[in-house]
Amino acid sequence: MAIVEVENLSISFKRYTSRFKQVNHQVISNLNVSIEAGEIVAVVGASGSGKSLLAHALLGILPIHANVSGTMTYKGEPLTAKRQGMLRGKEMSLVPQSVHFLDPLMKIGKQVRQSAKHHKAAFLQKKVFERYRLPVKTEKLYPFQLSGGMARRALLATAVVSEAELIIADEPTPGLDSAVIEEALTNLRELADNGSAILLITHDIEAALKIADKIAVFYAGTTVEVAPAVDFTGKGEMLRHPYSKALWRALPQNEFIPIPGAQPHPSELPPGCLFAPRCTIATSKCRHEQPTNRAVRNGMVRCFHAT
Ligand SMILES: Nc1ncnc2c1ncn2[C@@H]1O[C@H](COP(=O)(O)OP(=O)(O)O)[C@@H](O)[C@H]1O
Ligand code: SF4
Ligand SMILES: [Mg+2]
Repeated sequence: MAIVEVENLSISFKRYTSRFKQVNHQVISNLNVSIEAGEIVAVVGASGSGKSLLAHALLGILPIHANVSGTMTYKGEPLTAKRQGMLRGKEMSLVPQSVHFLDPLMKIGKQVRQSAKHHKAAFLQKKVFERYRLPVKTEKLYPFQLSGGMARRALLATAVVSEAELIIADEPTPGLDSAVIEEALTNLRELADNGSAILLITHDIEAALKIADKIAVFYAGTTVEVAPAVDFTGKGEMLRHPYSKALWRALPQNEFIPIPGAQPHPSELPPGCLFAPRCTIATSKCRHEQPTNRAVRNGMVRCFHAT
């Protein structure tokens, strides 16, 4: 069963360029993604591709001036603002990208215990502190007394003790040492194996491939491909979209070939396929029409010429 289904999500922000001029910046365009119970879907894509906005849209914590369209469902029912409010922090849990999400006025131990189910909160908090190598005395500290790495581990701890049905981890590991990263990834896999649906946002494809079932590749605010993780192999022959293939080949352990050009800014999106200006196989149709999402070989792709 799909725990979460996002269809044709679009998000834009109005910007004022001068006193009288207003422009609309489309930051997410017709984005589709779904996550089943027990599944880890990793979202990979360059900075600014819309990964955090997707997380915030699901949780209902977008800025008030965001214009949102499309549909989002949770367990088959529309994800309304009221439902998001009831599920947030309970059935749906976030490991935020920024450590500023910690409550500055509450001791860390209490923050972690509050997100766990009541009867086993103290036990779970102690166990998770051990697991993430947080010294026992951290319990009594306030966020400002923690190093950046400790604060990040505390955020992870808060989300994993919740045993939420949907866990959204937004770049949970930067700055952590490799043993803790390994521990965090293993922990997310265990939670999925126990039935949680997990959205892992990262720009580290290699880390994602260690635990994810599917990889959703984001580009300029949309999903260009959703592929089984096993398709990321060899020279990328199994991948469907030219950007996913290029991203894969750009990794140092592969061919290390950079992708010329840059992701377009939301104020300058091209009229046709968003990847056309950088695509080596773009045709005239690509430059004038936007490809829709379609199923290809057990995955999804947004490209006219994918097979
Ligand atoms: N509150 C906001 N107002 C206007 N633009 C925003 C806002 N938040 C994000 N954006 C823009 O939306 C795009 C996607 O942002 P984000 O989801 O944070 O990217 P990612 O997490 O993939 O790095 C970026 O171009 C960013 O500048
Ligand atoms: S639709 Fe055309 S431009 Fe876009 S990725 Fe496919 S081939 Fe390239
Ligand atoms: Mg982000």
